[in-house]
Amino acid sequence: MGIWSKKSLARLQNEDGEGHELHRTLNGLQLTLLGIGAIIGAGIFVVTGTAAAQHAGPAIVLSFILAGLGCLFAGLCYAEFASMIPVAGSAYTYGYATLGELVAWIIGWDLMLEYLFASSAVAVGWSGYLTAFLRDYAGWELPAALANAPLGTTPDSLVPHATGALVNLPAVLLVGVLTALLVVGIHESARVNNIIVFVKVAIVLLVIGFGAFHVEREHWTPFIPPNTGRFGEFGWSGVLAGAGVIFFAYIGFDAVSTAAQETRNPSKDLPTGILGSLIVCTVLYVLMAAVMTGLAPYRTLDVPEPVYVAISEGGPALQWLRPIVGVGAIAGLASVVLVMLMGQPRIFFAMSRDGLLPPFFGRIHPRYRTPYVSTLITGGVAMVVAGLFPIGLLGHLVSIGTLFAFVVVCAGILVLRYTRPDLPRPFRTPFVPVVPILGILVCTALMLGLGTETWIRLILWLALGLVIYFGYGRKHSRVGREESATRTDPR
Ligand code: ALA
Repeated sequence: MGIWSKKSLARLQNEDGEGHELHRTLNGLQLTLLGIGAIIGAGIFVVTGTAAAQHAGPAIVLSFILAGLGCLFAGLCYAEFASMIPVAGSAYTYGYATLGELVAWIIGWDLMLEYLFASSAVAVGWSGYLTAFLRDYAGWELPAALANAPLGTTPDSLVPHATGALVNLPAVLLVGVLTALLVVGIHESARVNNIIVFVKVAIVLLVIGFGAFHVEREHWTPFIPPNTGRFGEFGWSGVLAGAGVIFFAYIGFDAVSTAAQETRNPSKDLPTGILGSLIVCTVLYVLMAAVMTGLAPYRTLDVPEPVYVAISEGGPALQWLRPIVGVGAIAGLASVVLVMLMGQPRIFFAMSRDGLLPPFFGRIHPRYRTPYVSTLITGGVAMVVAGLFPIGLLGHLVSIGTLFAFVVVCAGILVLRYTRPDLPRPFRTPFVPVVPILGILVCTALMLGLGTETWIRLILWLALGLVIYFGYGRKHSRVGREESATRTDPR
């Protein structure tokens, strides 16, 4: 067994129940709101602008449809897993139950890209809106050297270059403050989350609703700007590259699965929450992207605060929206960072409980009852990353990492239908094997759109993970140790 060891469902459920008595209060609607809260963030508020300006032009709308389709296929597979293994889950847990320890480790390690690096990326996006808001409404210009990434990339460079800035201080401070809050135990209550979700959705709807009247059709022509001769720079390859980049905007719907223990009827409500939040966001994103590229020439959107720019270009009648968008983005993006910073320690916690990470990752604070060590490690690393790197590089890395996890989840559904057809599946992914295969194909295509440098970074990251697994996790794995104990003691 060893690296292929699996955890039984009964064992997972036992561990899940250990030590907590959470109230099962959430229903499908609340889970959908939770998902929307985790999804809408820097993706739509920041990354859409760069993706339109550098890759797809107005056809970024098609990129959103393509990425949404990939998420839908993967989401349908996630929903089957979540209904089958309705414990505090993530792809890591699903992987351990079905595909074995090595695959679980690879997904767990890879999920750091999704949670830890995404919290840094969204913090960088937050910093952009804060800087613009302070400049416009407080007359306070933050020194550029203290509000920008000191490291930058060009499309062909694997190694980042110095930009002349010192540190992205607002991003670092945001992560620091939120980490401190998480250590002392504040967590977003469902009520606060609902308010922020309401604000975010309202802002997106306002921009769509009022912006639609000021769209200038010539901004949409040509809808698919001709390719420049390079893969990914406009044309159809640009649509694909744009989809890989804005895939970031959809990340978060899988966070719904982490609330399994607090859900009334997990096998029914989890699929509702996952798919419901995904569908709502796809519709909002497609409309928002169409309005943004209709208000402003797409090339002007390559800035840290593209929604601002789109509104400004829309003419004087839209200016009242600017401060509202500013405040909403600042609150909304901070809440995404909080959710991401909260998700990562839960995964570290599970990996340390399984022996794949050292025990101190699972240490609980004696007074605050929070996983403070893993929270501090997450926050510390996320602060450094947010302070140094630009959102473009981080967003690409987060997208490729999450897409990779989705490919494994789709493959897992496929494998399980053949190896364990007997398992009860309250929610069944429809049209198997077509849907998981399409999920694998679309997500792989999106990964291909992300370019060689991002692939190399992913491979280096996974290689580092394998070194750590074979150096530490494999020797300390709880399941592995129990298996060898059973073998040596035949009683
Ligand atoms: N989907 C999240 C965002 O756009 C990560 O900020």
